[in-house]
Amino acid sequence: MDLPIRPRRNRKSPGLRALTRETVLCPGDFVLPLFLHDLEVDEVIPSMPGCKRWSLDGMVNEAGEALSVGVTAVVLFPAIDHSLKTKRGEECFNREGLVQRAIRALKSAYPELVVMTDVALDPYSIDGHDGILEEGEILNDETVGILCKQAVSQAEAGADIIAPSDMMDGRIGALRGALDLAGYQKVSICSYTAKYASAYYGPFRGALGSAPKSGDKKSYQMDPSNRREALRELSLDQDEGADIVMVKPAGAYLDIISDVRQHTTLPVAAYQVSGEYLMIKSASAEGWICEESVMMESLIAIKRAGADVILTYFAKEAAKILKE
Ligand code: PBG
Repeated sequence: MDLPIRPRRNRKSPGLRALTRETVLCPGDFVLPLFLHDLEVDEVIPSMPGCKRWSLDGMVNEAGEALSVGVTAVVLFPAIDHSLKTKRGEECFNREGLVQRAIRALKSAYPELVVMTDVALDPYSIDGHDGILEEGEILNDETVGILCKQAVSQAEAGADIIAPSDMMDGRIGALRGALDLAGYQKVSICSYTAKYASAYYGPFRGALGSAPKSGDKKSYQMDPSNRREALRELSLDQDEGADIVMVKPAGAYLDIISDVRQHTTLPVAAYQVSGEYLMIKSASAEGWICEESVMMESLIAIKRAGADVILTYFAKEAAKILKE
């Protein structure tokens, strides 16, 4: 054939492929989510193979292992004892609460570790909702008031980044104001900007016992059918002072990641959630797919779509492969 243009020329050897590669992952892209509980032992989570509910010591050890493979950030999710759950989730701003103790333990063991915390009421709420539920409704402004206390108490314990995952309106501005007023101007906000009402969160809720007791989260999390609405949330979060904006879930929402990337100069994060992780884990446990390859491909796709930061349960495994 008389073909002057042959794209395959750029693919002919590993060296050429490396030179022409457009997207490269590195361990520093990842944030490792850690589940914790207030017990002395680490507990296997059957619905999340490879993940554990950590004791404080186990969590510190796990964070150390993450650091040793180049993963410099973790995000904390607590399983709260049922006896501490209330309608308004006041335990979330207890100075001696599980998350607050965990932050202090991590920062004293590894001052360089970036500690990110979840801001939302669901682990603390007797109703299993991210906000205060009253007569079948999630109260927006009252919830934001409590989230401000939660964030300030996490900042006081030493959190570097607070990450509101609750989807209440106006919370980024309110959180920024509350943090600044309390003297935490240096604490960053990573907003769950476009968080969809997704069935992919199922295994996570099982791991924390935080599933809603009634109803669903569709009156605050976004409708998976909506694309433009993500940009509306983005512009609000930017104006209210978010430092990083997140899309969640990741794999089924690559178009949203790409849209957000194109409409902001802020760093974009994406959360490869529990259901995404579990689909890869379970299919590979059956021998139907190659775990390592699909894992790396799923992560590169998220980065290629425009994410700078990836929250993933694969953080340690993927970082190890990248280091080899
Ligand atoms: C709740 C929260 C959820 C996740 C992170 N924070 C679940 C939910 O919104 O119901 C899900 C993460 C995952 O599935 O891995 N504030």
